[in-house]
Amino acid sequence: MFRERLGDDSALVGACLLEALPDSGPLAEPMRYAVAGGKGLRGFLVIEGARMLGVAPDAARHPAAAVEAIHAYSLVHDDLPAMDDDDLRRGQPTVHRKWDEATAILVGDALQSLAFELVARDEVGPAEVRIELSRTLAEAAGARGMVLGQALDIAAETAAAPLTLDEIMTLQAGKTGALLRWSAMAGARLAGESPEPLRRYGEALGLAFQIADDVLDVEGDAETVGKAVGKDADAGKATFVSLLGLEAAKSRASDLVDDAIEALAPYGERAETLREAARFVIARDA
Ligand code: IPE
Ligand code: IPE
Ligand code: MG
Ligand code: MG
Ligand code: MG
Repeated sequence: MFRERLGDDSALVGACLLEALPDSGPLAEPMRYAVAGGKGLRGFLVIEGARMLGVAPDAARHPAAAVEAIHAYSLVHDDLPAMDDDDLRRGQPTVHRKWDEATAILVGDALQSLAFELVARDEVGPAEVRIELSRTLAEAAGARGMVLGQALDIAAETAAAPLTLDEIMTLQAGKTGALLRWSAMAGARLAGESPEPLRRYGEALGLAFQIADDVLDVEGDAETVGKAVGKDADAGKATFVSLLGLEAAKSRASDLVDDAIEALAPYGERAETLREAARFVIARDA
């Protein structure tokens, strides 16, 4: 069920994104390229959270496309030479390798703006809902969310002493957690229900997801993962794996998945797809 839903939802979100992109000009092709080929997990969380609370997938597709646009922008910039300096993303050359750095910077800028255009569209719902989604997405993406996490991640590479567990949790809650948490909560906001039970789900899922990403950097194979592996230790990245070692990091991720699943208790049977998503984040090989 989960696999099918992930596929269907990500096709719906992909189509919504394509329809919103410019169809001519110098950014048309690189923007299409940048949004293609991901798993679509963030968009899936928006759509499934909405579906669980009675909002149809079609009615959730714009906020879902918005968070996938922010995520794609974050990856294009994350791969730049000044950041992680990567050549491969989603099994293809990174945007700055296929085009150039200026294009990659501008693609990221344009995807970020596009996200706010999408989330504020009339079709999304009443003005209060659109404002709430826009404000919270801005917080999740910005200097108290993803961008903060990215800044802490880069700073840790040259820190005098290794980060503590709490510091690593703050870093990861920002760089990966903020967008995943927003995605988990967006459906409830669309449904006009309290998003609070889904906050805990999104937080635990986000941390587990990043630990799995860090484990894949050590144990994964570039062909399957679609990006270079074995780079975090060389770059001096602060991760659960660098601090705790592989086994303890995996066991922490598995506890976090249990937490995420427990947080879904108020939704009973309706949350089964989201439970499967939580199990998927640490079982994946890409
Ligand atoms: C990769 O995210 C970057 C992190 C936040 C760890 P994903 O693994 O969700 O990337 P795609 O979208 O599937 O390529
Ligand atoms: C990237 O984390 C997180 C964001 C892009 C916000 P990583 O640097 O670990 O992601 P990968 O491993 O390059 O996908
Ligand atoms: Mg990075
Ligand atoms: Mg990276
Ligand atoms: Mg990584």
